[in-house]
Amino acid sequence: MENIKIAVDGPAGSGKTTTAKIVAENLGYVYIDTGAMYRAVTLKAMRDAVKFDDASLAEMMQSTEIELRTSDRGQRTILNGEDVSEDIRLPEVTKNVSPVSAVGCVREKLVAMQRELGRAGAVVMDGRDIGTEVFPNAELKIFLVASVEARAERRTLELSRSGIEFSVEEIKKQITDRDHYDSTRKISPLRKASDAVEIDTSDMTIEEQAIIIIDAARKIIKA
Ligand code: DC
Repeated sequence: MENIKIAVDGPAGSGKTTTAKIVAENLGYVYIDTGAMYRAVTLKAMRDAVKFDDASLAEMMQSTEIELRTSDRGQRTILNGEDVSEDIRLPEVTKNVSPVSAVGCVREKLVAMQRELGRAGAVVMDGRDIGTEVFPNAELKIFLVASVEARAERRTLELSRSGIEFSVEEIKKQITDRDHYDSTRKISPLRKASDAVEIDTSDMTIEEQAIIIIDAARKIIKA
């Protein structure tokens, strides 16, 4: 078994993106950040002043094209031809992404795209519902968790590196609110798949997390 699908789910700031990227690079797999797709839809809704309800977003989705491109700067997110990779990380987008990603028509379109992107395998996909909804048959499912303190510290540092300053307390509140929204929504809430391997990353380095996943993947690939 060579081209397996690896699902990496977990709450905000659990280290999914950084870890999943390293795992993909190491295995020579494609990395897909599904959160970036929900962020791009949110950015479009904000720019076009579209209401976050099913009917309004369904109409907007008809003229919304999202593409993920790989470049030497990593995965780039393209919205209707425009590279929005930086804009989708802005705090206003982060604030609005949970209500937008809870809407059925948005999830339907993006989940279909994600299934298509990962159909051939050899893929590491990170998100909230990859192991439960997008690829319930993924050969390897990882669920990353970490204390809210550890996650808030990581996020604050990450934002600070991009020149955006928030206190750890503010970020902690944002993360807690977003987790609550993402795990209590009606459609595909954030939850651990029953057959996922849970890794608590609170006291781990990114490399340590990545090695655990790479080892698990190699065992499956060899089998
Ligand atoms: O991974 P992230 O923080 O960039 O994700 C942004 C938001 O997108 C997250 O708060 C919930 C939503 N999301 C989702 O609902 N399903 C996914 N597979 C990925 C992200």
